[in-house]
Amino acid sequence: MKIINTIHNLKNTIQQWQAETCRIGFVPTMGYLHAGHLELVKQAKNNCDRVVVSIFVNPLQFNQASDLDNYPTSLEEDQQKLIAVKVDALFLPDTKMMYPNGQAAITKICVPEITDTLEGEHRPGHFDGVATVVNKLFNLVQPQAAFFGEKDYQQLLLVKKMQADLNMPIEIHSVSTHREIDGLAMSSRNARLTDENRKKAPELYRILQQVSQQLKLGQLCIDVEVQAAAQLQAAGFEVEYISVRDRASLQSAHNNQKNRLVLAAAHLGSVRLIDNLIID
Ligand code: PAJ
Repeated sequence: MKIINTIHNLKNTIQQWQAETCRIGFVPTMGYLHAGHLELVKQAKNNCDRVVVSIFVNPLQFNQASDLDNYPTSLEEDQQKLIAVKVDALFLPDTKMMYPNGQAAITKICVPEITDTLEGEHRPGHFDGVATVVNKLFNLVQPQAAFFGEKDYQQLLLVKKMQADLNMPIEIHSVSTHREIDGLAMSSRNARLTDENRKKAPELYRILQQVSQQLKLGQLCIDVEVQAAAQLQAAGFEVEYISVRDRASLQSAHNNQKNRLVLAAAHLGSVRLIDNLIID
């Protein structure tokens, strides 16, 4: 696996692969890799001739300094995991390389409407930071296909919309959420849960499943949402939202509509967890 630390070296590698007419797959990450990330890599390997993974903890998408400061890193372990799944190149940009004139001066990409709600409402500026860095990384890596997880469902929709709106010549592939045996969605942030909160954490997915069951039985969205929030609160979570939405627009779902999903964000101690489940 090539370890690439400069834009110059990345360009050379990409040009060489393009000359060999390789199909390039790309998996952007913020590191502290787990089996969910590696699932994206596996799908990229199955679909492409060469796979680039990036690790960059993008300051532009963190709306709270403490979240950025506490974001876990493990570069040595990450490298070993990527070598084991035969990644071709690991791109490791730093903040100076990505934002040479500072974060305030950078041209930003804003994807409207689907980002106005849920994560966008609770994390102001977050999605502009995501869209901007993903756009920059796409321009640097020039992949034919890029791979994103359904775990960050709103982010996935954002990337798909950006790709379509801006006619980006890149296929966006989605990968279903990888879970621990007890149902907890894998996340780099799980490492920061205390032992006690780690035991409580699977309750989030259990309640998403319960919401799905109740809606399938015809219960009203609002009743189900209120009950689910109260249950999470009683289980020790501080709930930001648990909400039933239309899968494409992320607008509030009607009681009898199809194509719904339920999304939730809740804190356990200082750790913010998000998860979602497609209903019908
Ligand atoms: P990060 O949280 O490191 O996630 C990188 C990719 O892995 C994202 O596409 C995310 O949805 C996916 N992923 C995370 N946990 C997963 C799981 N349990 N199952 C399946 N896929 C999972 O998301 C980001 O980084 C950043 O916002 C980024 C896109 C890299 C831009 O900075």
